[in-house]
Order: sequence, then C-alpha cells, then structure tokens
Amino acid sequence: MTTLKSQLGSHRPKHGIILGSALGSVIDAVENGVDIPYTELSGFPVPKISGHAGKVVLGKLGGVEVAVLAGRAHAYEDGNAAVMRPALEQLKEAGIEVLILTNAAGSLKASMKPGSLMLLTDHINCAGMNPLIGQHGDENFVSMTNAYDAGLRKSFVAAAKKEKILVKQGVYCWYSGPSFETPAEIRMMQIIGGTAVGMSTAPETILATRLGMKVAAISTITNLAAGIKGASPSHDETKREGAKAAVNMKRLLIRFFKELK
Ligand code: HPA
Repeated sequence: MTTLKSQLGSHRPKHGIILGSALGSVIDAVENGVDIPYTELSGFPVPKISGHAGKVVLGKLGGVEVAVLAGRAHAYEDGNAAVMRPALEQLKEAGIEVLILTNAAGSLKASMKPGSLMLLTDHINCAGMNPLIGQHGDENFVSMTNAYDAGLRKSFVAAAKKEKILVKQGVYCWYSGPSFETPAEIRMMQIIGGTAVGMSTAPETILATRLGMKVAAISTITNLAAGIKGASPSHDETKREGAKAAVNMKRLLIRFFKELK
C-alpha cells in the first residue's frame, strides 16, 4: 500500500477531478496518463458498482496537470458518508487545491432534459447523513455558504460558451439511494428548491471544503426524476445517458483547463 503523494513522480497536479457514473471515458482525454489503481492506494475505496472504474490517472487535460479519480464510492455502498475521506485527504496531501466533482443526476425540471449539463450552485442534504459526523474539533463547523466556488463556476460558464455547450445551473439534492426516489420525494425536492437529484457529490463537497479545497461540481443529467412525465430512472439509463453526456463533459473540462493556461 502506498500514498498518492509518494506516487506523483514528476507530476505536480493542483487540480483533482472525480468522475461520476459512466463518465470514465473522460480519462481517454488525459495526455500521457499514468494509472495508479485504487487497490494500491491506502484507504482508497474500490468501487463495487458497474459504471465506475477504480484508478487515479495522472497526466494533463487541456495542457494542465490533473489527478483524475476514475470512480468513486458512495455512502449507500456501506453506510459510511465519509467513505471518500481517505481519498480526499490524500488528494490534499498530494497538493490538490481545486476539486472538480462530476456526477450523474436526475432532473427535477421537465425542461432540463437528459443530456444536459448542470453546474451546481449549491446543494440540499436530503440524505440525513453528514461525512463530518463523529469528527471532533471546532474546525468541523465548516461554513458551506460558498461551497461551490463562484469563480470556478464563472470559468466553467465561459468555457461552455466557447465550446457552444449549454450548461444549466442549479441546486443538487443529495439523496442516499441506492433505491431511486419516490414521486412524492421528488415533489418535495421540487418544492424545497432542488433542480437535480443524485446519490453522491454533496458529502465530497463537505469533506473537500473541510480540507480547504475549492470545489466545482457538474452534473450530467441522465434522466427525468421519478414521477415526472416520461421518467423511468434506472441504473442502465444512468450508464447509457451518462456515457453520451461524457462527450460534452470531456469538451467542457478540456476547454476549462485550456483557458486556465
Ligand atoms: N435519482 C438519483 N440519482 C440519480 C438519478 C436519479 O434520478 N439519475 C442518476 N443518478
């Protein structure tokens, strides 16, 4: 077992990316990618569900050094909302300052169709868990007021414009899963101000904010949420639509990094 920091070699990434369901193909765009399997990194969770690989890829995206985590573990896999803590701590230790989280999500708006990309402006924790529960010390009273960095969001909007990709912005509701939501739960999320719903990202945002990283998060909308006319959420649909949306996600990320240079 080893640590990401000790495996960096000549790489010095400041940007980390976590790829969500069916977005694994984004790693094809990493220039001169070096793979480190999660199984070699202490504390990294080995994803147990299809649609998620389990490796860190070090290389360049759009000419900028990145550490890409292909695959994440979810709280619903073992009941631990802090399942990504060791991986995020290792990213921090390896020098990552900005974390870009991606995920697959269901749309709470009939007008935001599958295939859309959505930048998270904020989240609502509908899961009833928090990855910092059980941690001690005043530092755990983390402010979540600017958790999704406005500057990064602006850069992504500009990058999307350059690539002529339509990106929406909205509030992500974190639902524990792994069952999909009931139509009544979706109506509740619509009423309380949600725009999309998914089973990841929010706990990682909380952990990364606690660690002092800046966070941006982007959802690929893979389906309309339960109960919306025409909706039929399923993991197969998530994987299928997620893979299609990965094309635009890849272009958006590459453009974001090109513009950073
Ligand atoms: N609900 C929760 N998570 C999801 C969905 C959904 O409809 N689609 C993709 N991930």
